[in-house]
Amino acid sequence: MNIRVVTGITTSGTPHLGNYAGAIKPAIIASVKPNVESFFFLADYHALIKCHDPNKLYRSRLEIAATWLAVGLDIDRVVFYRQSDIPEIVELSWILTCSTAKGLMNRAHAYKACVSNNLSKGLDQDDTVSMGLFSYPILMAADILMFKANKVPVGKDQVQHLEMARDIAQKFNRKYNNDFFVLPEALVASSVGTLPGLDGRKMSKSYNNTIPLFEGSAKDLKSSIMHIITDSKEPGEYKDAYNSHLYILYKAFSNETESEEFRKKLALGMSWSEAKKSLYEKIEYEIFPMREKYSKLITQPDLIEKILQFGAQKARVLSKKCIEEVRDLIGIRSLIDYKKNNLGKGINYDSKINNSKNKKKARLICYRDDLNKFRIRLLSTTGKELLTIKDSFSNADDAVLLMKKLNWFLKKSEMNK
Ligand code: TRP
Repeated sequence: MNIRVVTGITTSGTPHLGNYAGAIKPAIIASVKPNVESFFFLADYHALIKCHDPNKLYRSRLEIAATWLAVGLDIDRVVFYRQSDIPEIVELSWILTCSTAKGLMNRAHAYKACVSNNLSKGLDQDDTVSMGLFSYPILMAADILMFKANKVPVGKDQVQHLEMARDIAQKFNRKYNNDFFVLPEALVASSVGTLPGLDGRKMSKSYNNTIPLFEGSAKDLKSSIMHIITDSKEPGEYKDAYNSHLYILYKAFSNETESEEFRKKLALGMSWSEAKKSLYEKIEYEIFPMREKYSKLITQPDLIEKILQFGAQKARVLSKKCIEEVRDLIGIRSLIDYKKNNLGKGINYDSKINNSKNKKKARLICYRDDLNKFRIRLLSTTGKELLTIKDSFSNADDAVLLMKKLNWFLKKSEMNK
């Protein structure tokens, strides 16, 4: 059985080293495994929750798409798309909103952090909290459930959102008495998880402590790394790697032997500046060829747009099917499907629908063929081609005349009785 992997990255900034090591790289490595179907997307509607600068939002989508491609995403193997190109996701989000308890959303870490921050400042608890922020986990659940993901690679901070996605799926399944949605599992990359930023807190746009990935030059990368905060231990002094952000970063870019080597050197007194230099070299060695690719891609938004449309086309085959099934389950379905809708008590729908006024008729259509001549075709009640008249006409009037004659026969025929 194939494992379906879905993950998204919020397009509200420039990709940084933490995004690369914690999300993009492990996702791409996992995508080439056999029996894995990967769906990677740009979560631009999630970005809208905090980013209200149109230019920034536009630019971030471009940068993040170029980043995934530069790192080596194979667009034939992976379905790579933009959330906003899949309208069914927003539709599903609303449907799920209607079966999700408000209480569940009250417990979301991101929302709670906002509330406690407001209260500590003496503000109203919901100051600046939008409904987008509040129901963020539901949109995320829609992203995941839409494509029936089994595994969702995320940072540690997103694990709660995955639990909520499961809750939301279960609630829906219970409510509609089925096992329609697959329950997704979070996949947290164990050795990297969340990378520390310049100040040791989680590397994040919101803390302004990020180390750039491709934007800027190797020099910028080096200068950022040199600014990572360390303690004041002197060269020659013992340094405990396990208490060092540098070591965590180094580990994310090296194998076990290399990181062990690094740990020993620190213990033996390697200076912080030497440690930073070797961290820089390690990272630069890995990302240099990707930065070259990125710089080319970023000047080709047309190409990136085409790639994203290609992905959206593939994704929508599934999302359209899913939303059709969901609509059917919840009762948002065609009124004509009266039997399924369990209607008709006391009313003879059959006789109504079968009366000759409502009955669809076989019909003639006139069209132009490859040689631009007028031709006439007979379609069945369901629109299937029954026959095409051999003669073709240069003049539309001649075709119409024949249509009239044929229609006269058609009316008399059994087919429309
Ligand atoms: N909330 C995720 C983040 O900030 C991004 C995201 C949105 C996502 N939708 C998702 C991740 C679906 C995984 C699956 O990192």
